[in-house]
Amino acid sequence: MATAQAQTTGYREKLFGKHILILGGTSGIGLAVAEAAREFGATIVVSSSNPRKIDAAIRKLEEIQSGADTTTDDNGRVQGFPCNLDDLDRLEGNLKLLFEKATDGGRDKLDHVVYTAGNKVGSIPLADTNTKMITEHGILRFYVPIMIGKLSQNYMHNSPQSSMTFTSGVNNVKPVPGRVLMAGWGAGVEGITRALAVDLRPIRVNCICPGPTRTELFDDFPDEVLQPLLKKYMASTMTGTIGYPEDIAETYLYCMRDSFVDGTVIHSSGGYLLA
Ligand SMILES: NC(=O)c1ccc[n+]([C@@H]2O[C@H](COP(=O)([O-])OP(=O)(O)OC[C@H]3O[C@@H](n4cnc5c(N)ncnc54)[C@H](OP(=O)(O)O)[C@@H]3O)[C@@H](O)[C@H]2O)c1
Repeated sequence: MATAQAQTTGYREKLFGKHILILGGTSGIGLAVAEAAREFGATIVVSSSNPRKIDAAIRKLEEIQSGADTTTDDNGRVQGFPCNLDDLDRLEGNLKLLFEKATDGGRDKLDHVVYTAGNKVGSIPLADTNTKMITEHGILRFYVPIMIGKLSQNYMHNSPQSSMTFTSGVNNVKPVPGRVLMAGWGAGVEGITRALAVDLRPIRVNCICPGPTRTELFDDFPDEVLQPLLKKYMASTMTGTIGYPEDIAETYLYCMRDSFVDGTVIHSSGGYLLA
């Protein structure tokens, strides 16, 4: 009788030469995932809507020396392509074009897809909510993950070693006032994750649920707003800290590297839900 063989060596090489597309990989959590995967010798493709941010991310990633074996050509190539995900009418076409470019027309298939694109949303009083807003808030949070799931099948290795990782947020589970749209669509992506894990099997599909994390998402806040906000966030975790992209990035790496984790939501939130 054949017995399963556990892998007991080669942990450092698990991402070596792997081909990873990160949508939203030009700042914050996505860029940290790109940096970490690059350190492990992965080939990285970053995408977002702003070409200047893509160029800056590529320059930053190219400076990172891979800690893995440096003897092959596949050691951490970096590419980037713009793709605006916020245009509902062109969404499928834009995404398809991105997958085509990232895989050289489907010839160089992806091992992992990571989705961290997100935009700023403040609180919206329920009384001000209208149906147009509901749709607008759902594009990045709900429509895009479904279309990534649909399109990626033609561009990924069909294997349990392959994975797709989406992003939600603690607001879905523990909303503050005025977050109906965010919480609703955010919870939706966790449902999409489980359904895609079934539809795309054996490709694994997981979702990361970050707590408050200090990223570029907060860069436009004036200091007098930002500092009290950060203090409030820190007081709302068990660790007494806010998250940093390099912390949260570990959960995405884990989802890529553990070829038995599937259809699940992983939290990295400093115990935010316990407060
Ligand atoms: N930071 C937090 O506290 C926190 C907490 C819970 C959940 N999250 C979630 O985690 C994810 C990452 O957040 P982050 O803090 O890392 O944000 P971030 O630093 O602002 O990064 C967001 C990324 O999404 C890209 N993006 C924004 N709009 C886009 C569009 N229309 N088309 C394509 N790409 C677009 C941005 O690049 P361009 O500007 O070039 O498009 C950027 O690369 C988001 O889904 C966010 O909701 C964050």
